[in-house]
Amino acid sequence: MITILGIESSCDDTAAAVSRDDKILANVVAGQQVHNAYGGVVPELASRAHQQNIIPVVDQALKQAKVVKSELDAIAFTNGPGLMGSLLVGTSFAKAMAMGLGIPIIEVNHMQAHVLAHFAQHPDKERPTPEFPFLCLTVSGGHTQLIIVKSPYEMELIGQSLDDAAGEAFDKIAKLMGLPYPGGPLIDQLAQQGNPEAFSFPKARVPGFNFSFSGLKTAVMYFINNQIKNDPDFLDNQKPHLAASVQRTIVDILMLRIREVVAETGIRRVAIAGGVAANSGLRRSLQAEEGLEVFIPPFEYCTDNAAMIAITGYYKYLRGDFSPQTTSPNARFSGL
Ligand code: KG4
Ligand code: ZN
Repeated sequence: MITILGIESSCDDTAAAVSRDDKILANVVAGQQVHNAYGGVVPELASRAHQQNIIPVVDQALKQAKVVKSELDAIAFTNGPGLMGSLLVGTSFAKAMAMGLGIPIIEVNHMQAHVLAHFAQHPDKERPTPEFPFLCLTVSGGHTQLIIVKSPYEMELIGQSLDDAAGEAFDKIAKLMGLPYPGGPLIDQLAQQGNPEAFSFPKARVPGFNFSFSGLKTAVMYFINNQIKNDPDFLDNQKPHLAASVQRTIVDILMLRIREVVAETGIRRVAIAGGVAANSGLRRSLQAEEGLEVFIPPFEYCTDNAAMIAITGYYKYLRGDFSPQTTSPNARFSGL
């Protein structure tokens, strides 16, 4: 049995999890309210909040898991991509704690971890995991990636966003609608009461299996400005319809590519991962798609969490893939 402490601090969530083999014994996340007033994550404030949160979060994860430090076999931590100051807090903490305990450290690519979140199991309720190879659409605040997952160690990136990520599109459009950050979940909520056919927006076509969302954001901006000229109360009256229409457009863009990749590769096992995988419209559309075997992680494993870091750490542990104490984070990882 392998017991791993996972630490995630790449953006604005300080998270710690404890795994025993592929079972997640504890999964603790501390969000950071400090950014709400700014309409986005302020890197400097994020690093400081991580510094304050990390010890209580790790403590709580160990207590919840009923694991004492001496039982840990390794510490896995996110080493990128993400905000450098934030990554440094988790990395330094992991190194120091592992050195104190005399156990190895395992560096984890955040994007690979979002994919492997599919293999994180609840201690007493197994859920089905995708067989290899499968397709994974990872949609988060920073990335939109289409990946062929050949094994836990072998992932091929076949398409990505050429500009804004899907989550970024949700968040930026939410901001145009006067919603606080992060606006993705708020658009999702508002969309429940809106008509997705109320307004139509362009769906940019870009080469290959890639995506583009910045044009949609601009189109929505012009649309809102034009509507407000005629009806100053437009946003107050139409927010649910606008949210539903925007959500439908983003989901349509994602689903279109999924269908194309399934047709091209013949792989019919399709998984989604990342914060936008929590979106009810995307979950519903994917589930309604005929002929696919669909894998959708529980909500807590979609948005940033450390369970996905611990499970990736577990797979790397099985291969003896440890990192030296001299390792340092990489804010701009491009691969997987
Ligand atoms: O994976 P994640 O927690 O962090 C990153 O690695 O970026 O993803 C955060 C993103 C944000 O853009 C947030 O607005 C979006 O996921 N998000 C959603 C929903 N829940 C989170 N977007 C749409 N609908 C949701 N329900
Ligand atoms: Zn993420």
